[in-house]
Amino acid sequence: MSGTAAAQKFYGRWARLYDVIATSTPGVGSVRDAAVSTLALEPGDTVLDMGCGTGANFPFIRERIGSDGTLVGVDYTAGMLDQAHARVEREGWENVHVVRGDASRPPVCGPVDAVISSFVVGMLGDPERTVGDWISLLRPGGRIVLLDAAQSSRLVGEPLNALFQAFVLASSPPGTRSRHREEPWNVLDSRVAAARRALEHGTVARTHEDRALGFVQVTGGRRPESNE
Ligand SMILES: C[S@@+](CC[C@H](N)C(=O)[O-])C[C@H]1O[C@@H](n2cnc3c(N)ncnc32)[C@H](O)[C@@H]1O
Repeated sequence: MSGTAAAQKFYGRWARLYDVIATSTPGVGSVRDAAVSTLALEPGDTVLDMGCGTGANFPFIRERIGSDGTLVGVDYTAGMLDQAHARVEREGWENVHVVRGDASRPPVCGPVDAVISSFVVGMLGDPERTVGDWISLLRPGGRIVLLDAAQSSRLVGEPLNALFQAFVLASSPPGTRSRHREEPWNVLDSRVAAARRALEHGTVARTHEDRALGFVQVTGGRRPESNE
């Protein structure tokens, strides 16, 4: 089974449980809120949530863009999108849409005001290229933020990296280890680093924040204005 098929099967199967973890884990709401804050959204803005999963970021975005904005979540796993769709229906958000598709070949066109992607780039085959493509969907001056988990390089976090590795293993689709030459946590680290390189290359006014002892990273940037 390919990595994509395994990921879709895994996330489709555990979508309901994932939604509980993604929305109720202590601290996760504040980190999502912090990530969305870096987008400096205004009422009426248009936002893409790449690999939106069950829509755990939606409330933080919808709160800022209001009923005049547009939010589109893209994900390739039907079960995750069912949860996202249920959230949209429950909340009665008429301007929030979910689209099934591959975020590495976005089934949407720009320009948009902002792009967010949380806990996704570690699953992308070519995160550097894909994040570069996402930046090109932004209008000049539009913002992007990536929220990710990776091993900690902070003194306080490093002793807990073994625990993090166990978490990565437990939360990876079956067969992940045999599909890569490197351990899954190293694959995750290098993909998160590659995504950040693309952000460094394609944006200005970058922000970076480590949270949760360095295990969570929030990296943002702005597409240059045409005169920058
Ligand atoms: C760990 S979950 C994160 C979900 C959500 N962003 C969040 O913060 O809770 C990863 C999600 O990315 C989706 N995903 C991974 N690669 C994708 C791709 N290339 N295209 C679309 N969705 C993708 C998976 O289906 C899954 O829903």
